[in-house]
Amino acid sequence: MQVQVVDHPLAATALTVLRDERTARAAFRAALHDLSTMLVYEATRELPTMPVSVTTPLATTAGVALAAEPVVVPVLRAGLGMLPAALTLMPDARSAFIGLSRDETTFEPRVYLESVPADLAGRPVFLLDPMLATGGSALHALRLLNSRGATGIVVVSVVAAPEGVAALEGSGLDVSVVTAVVDEKLNDTAYIVPGLGDAGDRIYGAV
Ligand code: PRP
Ligand code: URA
Repeated sequence: MQVQVVDHPLAATALTVLRDERTARAAFRAALHDLSTMLVYEATRELPTMPVSVTTPLATTAGVALAAEPVVVPVLRAGLGMLPAALTLMPDARSAFIGLSRDETTFEPRVYLESVPADLAGRPVFLLDPMLATGGSALHALRLLNSRGATGIVVVSVVAAPEGVAALEGSGLDVSVVTAVVDEKLNDTAYIVPGLGDAGDRIYGAV
C-alpha cells in the first residue's frame, strides 16, 4: 500500500498550528483548510484526464478535462473540516457522507449516517478524515465504499498512527494514503501521540 507523506514547509507549518494546544477553533479550522488544500492537491495527482481542445483568444490548442467525476467522502464530524478545501479544488465533485463516532471504550466505530451513492464504479473516490488512529473508522468507510464498487480509494488524512496504517495495509483493500505525518504511536485510549488531540472537538467544540 502506498503511503505518501506530504513533506512541504507550508504543510509542516500548518500542521504545527494544528498540533498547538493553544490554537483556538477559528485558527484551527483555517489551518485545517489550508493543509487540506495541500493534501488534496497531492492526493489528486493521478486523476485521469482526457484530451479536449480549447480555443484561446488567439488559437485553438490542446487542453485536458477530468475523465471521470470525482467523489469526495468526508467522515463526520471531523472530515467535514476538510470538505471545503476538496470542493475548492474539485468544484464539480460529488460528495457522499459517512457518519461515525468512535466508542470511547471499545474504540470501534458506531455508524449513524451512510449517505453514499449505490454505484461508485469507475469514480475516483477520496475519503477525508483528519485522524487515522486505530484505522477502525477508515476501514468501515472503505468497506462500505468498496461494496458500492469503488476501487483505488485515496484516504486523505492529516495525522496517521502507525497502527492505523498497518490496519489498512493488513486489510488487503485497494487503497492508498496521503497524510501530513505518520506519528509515533497510539496511547492507552487510542489517541495519536503526539497528534493534535480530538480533531472533531477542536473544529467544532466538545458537544
Ligand atoms: C475521530 C476521527 C476519526 C476517528 C479515528 O472521530 O475523526 O473518524 O476518530 O479513529 P480510529 O482510526 O481509531 O477509528 P470520532 O469518532 O471521534 O468522531 P468525530 O469526528 O465526530 O469527533
Ligand atoms: N480521533 C481523534 O480525533 N484524535 C485522535 O488522536 C484519535 C482519534
